[in-house]
Amino acid sequence: MATPAWTTICHNFVHYKRCYDVFEKRSGKVDLYNNWAKEEFSKVAEDICGGKRNPGIRNPICTLGMGSGTGSFEMALLKQLQPYFPSMHHTVVEPCEEFISHYKLHSVLENVQYDWQPKTFQQYMHDHECTSNGRKFDFISAVNSLYYTGNVKETIRFLIDQLTESGYLLVVVRSEKGSGFRIIVNFPELHPAFKPSYFISSKTVSEAIAELGMTAKVNSLRTNVDLSGVFDDDDAEGDDLLDLFTGVMNFRRTAPETLVERVLNFLRQESIPDSESGKINYMNHSVCVDWDAILVEKLHKQ
Ligand SMILES: C[S@@+](CC[C@H](N)C(=O)[O-])C[C@H]1O[C@@H](n2cnc3c(N)ncnc32)[C@H](O)[C@@H]1O
Repeated sequence: MATPAWTTICHNFVHYKRCYDVFEKRSGKVDLYNNWAKEEFSKVAEDICGGKRNPGIRNPICTLGMGSGTGSFEMALLKQLQPYFPSMHHTVVEPCEEFISHYKLHSVLENVQYDWQPKTFQQYMHDHECTSNGRKFDFISAVNSLYYTGNVKETIRFLIDQLTESGYLLVVVRSEKGSGFRIIVNFPELHPAFKPSYFISSKTVSEAIAELGMTAKVNSLRTNVDLSGVFDDDDAEGDDLLDLFTGVMNFRRTAPETLVERVLNFLRQESIPDSESGKINYMNHSVCVDWDAILVEKLHKQ
């Protein structure tokens, strides 16, 4: 079968960022994640740094962000570690130069020494032997980035290997319950250019962690996104949301009309009924997006 002429949004970081910005604006994602950092991750921060299990932990603490993006959530996580550590060393692995520039402008913290690694995870893993100097990390986060890093089990094994003996790994990925995952399952024909890892969910990640003999603590992160613009042909932000949900650049303009119609119908059916009337409100057309925050403590082997 001939490969369709459309391309994934991952090949154009500027376009991808614009779509992601619209998604964040139209959903409760930023507050949801930041509240989770304050309420749940703060407990882990206390555990990593509170000396309960790690009395001799060194200062500064070493942390790693994998696919850090513009760093806004990473900053929220590091802020929870700061009360315990006056100085920190944080490595940022992020292939998109535009995201790194944004990160440097908006998300850097005082008393944190940053090591910028403008590369993919695959390049980082390849270069690692020569560049790491044996450095291990007390905390590693891979937030919504494992979709792009190739073999999930190998990636997780590598990340766990990079942890100190009592370090923590945080992986955030979409769960199978939300529309973000359900759309890719229902329309595999959308993603001829994606690697198999794009289709992972928290179930895949949890299974890979269990196969390595580790246990994980999982928190569900759920919010709604307003997709009303998606059903309006002239709404540019609706087009961006459609691109993000399908993963295809300029989906409305480049995909076959029948496929666009089927995707729109699917998203209509995913709409959440108004909690009071029980009816779908098409003026505020919300669907549910759902991720799992998966925390692995290296010390806790099964
Ligand atoms: C959905 S964004 C998440 C960004 C950030 N972690 C956050 O929580 O907002 C996915 C990130 O993965 C990065 N990425 C894409 N391909 C990658 C790869 N092969 N290795 C590492 N990161 C990658 C993208 O540039 C982007 O910053």
